[in-house]
Amino acid sequence: MIQEDLERIRQEAKKKLEEVTTPEEINDLRVALLGKKGQITAILKGMKDVSKEDRPKVGQMVNEMRTEIETALTGRQEEILAKLQEARLGAEEIDVTLPAKKIEKGHLHPNQVALREIEDIFIGMGYEVVDGPEVEKDYYNFEALNIPANHPAKDEQDTFYLGTDMLLRTQTSGVQIHEMERGRIPIRMIAPGRVYRADEVDATHSPVFHQVEGLVVDKGITFADLKGTLAEFAKGIFGEDTKVRFRPHHFPFTEPSAEMDISCFKCHGKGCSFCKNEGWIEILGCGMVHPHVLEMSHIDPDVYSGFAFGIGLERIALLKYEIDDMRLLYENDIRFLKQF
Ligand code: DAH
Repeated sequence: MIQEDLERIRQEAKKKLEEVTTPEEINDLRVALLGKKGQITAILKGMKDVSKEDRPKVGQMVNEMRTEIETALTGRQEEILAKLQEARLGAEEIDVTLPAKKIEKGHLHPNQVALREIEDIFIGMGYEVVDGPEVEKDYYNFEALNIPANHPAKDEQDTFYLGTDMLLRTQTSGVQIHEMERGRIPIRMIAPGRVYRADEVDATHSPVFHQVEGLVVDKGITFADLKGTLAEFAKGIFGEDTKVRFRPHHFPFTEPSAEMDISCFKCHGKGCSFCKNEGWIEILGCGMVHPHVLEMSHIDPDVYSGFAFGIGLERIALLKYEIDDMRLLYENDIRFLKQF
C-alpha cells in the first residue's frame, strides 16, 4: 500500500521536476512534497498504521525516497539557476565592436578667451585683477566719478535702479573708487565685470555686457604712461604691428580724456569694409584721472596722478573673432560657439 503510494509519488515528482522552470516553481514543488502538509510527510504520518515488523523496512524506504527527492530537487534547482544566469550574461553581453560614445568636451566662451588674454597682458605689466560689486550705490557709479545728480551722462546710461540709491552698475568705473578708497598707493589694477543698461538688444547692444576697467595711480604718472601701456595692450591683443591713435573725447571722471583706435588689422590702415574704410577701429575710452575724482577719494592730486581706461569686452571678442553681431555671443548656439 505505502510502497504503491511511494512509487506513484516518485513518478509524479519526476514528471513535475521536468516541468518546473523557475526557482519559485521548484520551491512550490518542494513544499508540496516535503513540507509540513506535503505528500511524503503525510506518508510518514501514516507509519503508525504499518505493522511493527514492517515498520523498519518501510521507514527505510520512505527515508530513502525523501533523500532521493531532495537530491533531485536540489539538482533541478541548480540547473534552473545556471540557465537563468546564462540568459542574463547573454543579455548583458558587451559588444566591443560598437563605436564608442563621444565625450563632448566644452570650451571657453569667446568672451572668456578674450578676457584671459587681456588679464595676461596686464598681469604681465604688474597689474592686479580686482572685483567690484554689480549692485552698486549711486555714489560709486556716478557721484564719485564726477557725475552729479543733474549731469547729462546719467541719462545716457539708462540705468536699472533698485530703489533710489542702489542700482545695477552701468559701468565698471566705480571699482576705481573702491580701489582708491582702500588707500593703498600705488594702484595698478584692472577690474573686469558685468554691467547693465536698459538698452534694446541689437547687433551692438545688450542690456547686460562686460567691461574691463583699468586704473593706475602713483606719483608722476603722465599721459605718456597711458599711451605706452595701452599701445602695449593693443599689440598684445591684435598683433605686434598694431598702431594706436588717440582722439580727444569727454568722460566726466578723466581730464584730458580720449578714445583709442587701433589700426585695422585686416587692411593695416588702408581702409576696408571691416573698418568701414576708416583704416582705424575704436576700441576703448581712457584719460587722466580727474583731480576732483582723486580728491573725493582722499588722494591728494598735487602729489599723485593717474590714468584710467575702460574696455568693452564684447567689442574685443567680436573684433578678435570677426563676429559681426553681438547677439551671437549670447544665444549660446553651440554650433556657433564651437568655432572659437
Ligand atoms: N566707463 C566708461 C563707459 O562706460 C568707459 C571709460 C572711459 C572708462 C574712460 C574709463 C575711462 O576708465 O577712463 O562708457
